[in-house]
Amino acid sequence: MEKIVIDGGSRLNGSVGISGMKNSALPIIFASILVEDDCVIDNVPRVSDVFNALEILRSMGAKAEFCDLHTVCINTKNIGSQLGAKDLVCKMRASSYLMGALLSRFGKVEIPMPGGCNFGARPLDLHFKGFEKMGAVCEENQGFIRIVSKKKLNCNKITLDKISVGATINMVLALAGSKGTSVIENCAMEPHVDDLICFLNNCGADIKRIGTSVICKGDNRLKGTRYRIYPDMIEALTYLTFAGICKGQVHINGVVLQHLENEIRIFKKMGFDICADNDNLKIIAKDISGTSVVTAPYPGFPTDLHPQFAALLCFSNGGGTIKDIVFPTRFAYVNELLKMGAKIKQKENTVIIERSELFGAGLDATDLRAGAALIAAALGAQGKSEINNVNYIVRGYESIVDKIAAIGGKIKLVKGE
Ligand code: UD1
Repeated sequence: MEKIVIDGGSRLNGSVGISGMKNSALPIIFASILVEDDCVIDNVPRVSDVFNALEILRSMGAKAEFCDLHTVCINTKNIGSQLGAKDLVCKMRASSYLMGALLSRFGKVEIPMPGGCNFGARPLDLHFKGFEKMGAVCEENQGFIRIVSKKKLNCNKITLDKISVGATINMVLALAGSKGTSVIENCAMEPHVDDLICFLNNCGADIKRIGTSVICKGDNRLKGTRYRIYPDMIEALTYLTFAGICKGQVHINGVVLQHLENEIRIFKKMGFDICADNDNLKIIAKDISGTSVVTAPYPGFPTDLHPQFAALLCFSNGGGTIKDIVFPTRFAYVNELLKMGAKIKQKENTVIIERSELFGAGLDATDLRAGAALIAAALGAQGKSEINNVNYIVRGYESIVDKIAAIGGKIKLVKGE
């Protein structure tokens, strides 16, 4: 098994380029199921979730591959509704988007229960309720999901009981090919939701987001397009935590500032010197003070930054707390930080963190963002850390070892026996 080995304590200096957003790339790759012509998608990150999504499409008979370093070419004209790569569906949460996409194109879908990062219960009840409102029948049996609609999907209005990125995306995918006009209320407003809507509109769909509502006019034949996806806001914010922990001067290049406004305000309040220049951030981090945050759907503080931010607070004067109300059991990383000497306590959905002297240790990444948090902590710790379960980290961070090494981190990927 591969592991990441980090010798902590180096300053970071230099520039890092941000890759395309994983959480946009995945729904857009699955959205190509709605389009029977060629789709070309630029700025796609080379991460394992993307490779797996492309393989799932190929297992259904699609052409789907990287045709350039960060460009993916897809044609789904000849696909059937059956997929071969069932094991890959179980590896990734985003494979749940197959439900909306296949239901829209074929009126039926049968997939194994999607997997993905395990940070507590990740139900699909909102998705099923929405599909049923459109006239489909959903069944879950022995780890398989079967959804069938005898007639073309349609509905006037769906109100999601809770804000959910996945359910919003699935409703948009299902309704993009539906009959008539539908309104989805209480939608997630994450930039990746807008990225998907923009892609579908480029293909000829008629979808508008007005505040937390999305209005979908169906009846449009979707045609092929070329589309560039947004940069990854969570990757950019993760590098901000690395810069804060390791001090020095780091330039984070190729971001959409508007996506990061709320967090930049928080980082500045902590003492980060951040200068925004078009789509680049210049960061000087010296001594930083702690703060307290509560996660919330966009534009609130992202749950996907919670573990990395916990690592940052270990290095802050005064520490702070993080309350996660989106995924209230996302705390598997806490045991790993304890191994490094962190003064961190979990109480229900909150962690309380004091400034700590961290030392290197043998660590296990328990999920994607927890893995990034361990890298952050190890970069600032005294001595050597070894991080196992690298497979979680490469699901969502492109070339993370090379990017950190290029700005002065003493980090390497070691192949196991
Ligand atoms: C997506 C992201 C994930 C991120 C999360 C929240 C992808 C591939 N994953 O996950 O990285 O952490 O958004 O920003 O884009 N819920 C229900 N019933 C449902 C669906 C969700 O109760 O049917 C709950 C969840 O348990 C959670 C909350 O709603 O408490 C938000 O989850 P959701 O936004 O759906 O997350 P995902 O789409 O799974």
